Amino acid sequence: MSQPTRIHNQALRAKIMSAEEAAALIPKGCNVGMSGFTGAGYPKAVPLALAERMNAAHSAGAPFRIGVWTGASTAPELDGALAKVDGVELRLPYQSDPTCRKRINAGQMEYIDIHLSHVAQFVWAGFLGKLDVAIVEIAGIREDGSLIPSSSVGNNKTWLDLADKIILEVNSWQNSALEGMHDIYYGMALPPHRKPIPILSASDRIGDAYFKCDPSKVIAIVETHSPDRNSAFSPPDANSEAIAAHILEFIAHEVKKGRLPQELLPLQSGVGNVANAVMEQLQAAPYENLTAYTEVLQDGMFSLIKSGKMAFASATALSLSPEAAAEFNRDAALYAKKIMLRPQDISNHPEVIRRLGVIAMNGMIEADIYGNVNSTHIGGSSIMNGIGGSGDFARNSYLSIFMTPSIARNGEISCIVPMVTHVDHTEHDVQVIVTEQGLADLRGLSPKKRAVLVIENCAHPTFKPALEEYFERARKCSPGQHTPHILDEAFTFLRSWRASHEAREACRKDGAAQASAWKRP
Ligand code: COA
Repeated sequence: MSQPTRIHNQALRAKIMSAEEAAALIPKGCNVGMSGFTGAGYPKAVPLALAERMNAAHSAGAPFRIGVWTGASTAPELDGALAKVDGVELRLPYQSDPTCRKRINAGQMEYIDIHLSHVAQFVWAGFLGKLDVAIVEIAGIREDGSLIPSSSVGNNKTWLDLADKIILEVNSWQNSALEGMHDIYYGMALPPHRKPIPILSASDRIGDAYFKCDPSKVIAIVETHSPDRNSAFSPPDANSEAIAAHILEFIAHEVKKGRLPQELLPLQSGVGNVANAVMEQLQAAPYENLTAYTEVLQDGMFSLIKSGKMAFASATALSLSPEAAAEFNRDAALYAKKIMLRPQDISNHPEVIRRLGVIAMNGMIEADIYGNVNSTHIGGSSIMNGIGGSGDFARNSYLSIFMTPSIARNGEISCIVPMVTHVDHTEHDVQVIVTEQGLADLRGLSPKKRAVLVIENCAHPTFKPALEEYFERARKCSPGQHTPHILDEAFTFLRSWRASHEAREACRKDGAAQASAWKRP
């Protein structure tokens, strides 16, 4: 069924064409700024058509690659499709696509992992080279040519302002009630012309509801009717439930101590199931009038808005499951009054995060006994996703909490280690570490006291003796040292401890079996 037009500007209507025709206008080797943030608001037709063109070019022996700049992760129709045809020379910033990850770690795709709040200023300052083309999904074009943003804002303002050429995808699947829900700030500048960002509370509106767009730069408009990649959340497992419970107990303690107000401070919640579980548990907690100053709005936060526990949420993207997206769409006009979507250089801006006193809760891959955190690398060398907004929030928040199950890979690996294999957040930016085993509040503790608490409260019982042994030996090897380590063993200790532990266990079982065999008549 054909949808009523969302393009109300007559001059721009003349630029409507197919995705294939639009893709044919993208030059080889150019840098393309694409919309998209955690599966919301990404272009859904032109990247697929471009991937087909790239595939044909590769088959003809003429490789066709581009630089892909986005807000954050996107979807299989964008990152996945372009990576599969080897069409990406360089990708930035955060991504989470399995094919991209494989290519990056095989040295077949360049990747630059940048704090999400930094991307726009890097581009404005020219640090990344020239932005040639913008491909931006929008929810509609108004008579005056201004654009109604869609389910994410990300870096779209910057792409539209700076790209030489613009391709717009107008997606009529996006709810028309999104109109008015965005706050596009046009007051950013580079030093020395910067001014304070006048956000004093999460709900403050400081900009326009629409993107400005120079119509002479628009080279193509493609109409689509396609849903966002709304991924389902797994129901919280026992680990997520336990982590969430430790965080809520800690928050209750902070309220009791008078260090947090009864309505708490604006919440930031990272991507994934554990973060979502924390929000779900807040539903039953005795707090009202909650607010969020965050990057993505997931199901758990959406439920808080729905139930009235959360009064307002500021984010840059909606990242909902199919069920929550359907619910949002049923009553979008109501939710649009309680949610504001901003450019990611504002949703993640250090100045605002510091002023509002955000409570930041983010996932991690591993933490070390002194509180350094690795959010991005497996085994020190392979990228998982990227730092995303975790650095923007962790360093500038009032409370910076990092969480993970205490073990990974079926218990083979401890997520609490002597020394992290890659550092994204230093001990100075990490205040609280939580696993399903417990919570370590590191505020006010010197390194050796931190180590005792992290091992005691957060390590899995399987690995606790090994970590205790490492720490004790490190202290003895370097008496009095501020942050004791045995550098030759810091990365291998747990592995070799585990191997010898398993050998000891096998010996013990073998010995027991021999003993019982001996007892038999
Ligand atoms: N060693 C090796 N592998 C590990 C590991 C460790 N210490 N910890 C986790 N992993 C593996 C898991 O086994 C899993 O692998 P699989 O995909 O092959 O099953 C994978 O890493 C993801 O782990 P999971 O427990 O499912 O974590 P998650 O979905 O909660 O994501 C991060 C955790 C750290 C990857 C994720 O939070 C992230 O990308 N963070 C950085 C960006 C960020 O914080 N953004 C929010 C800011 S607003």
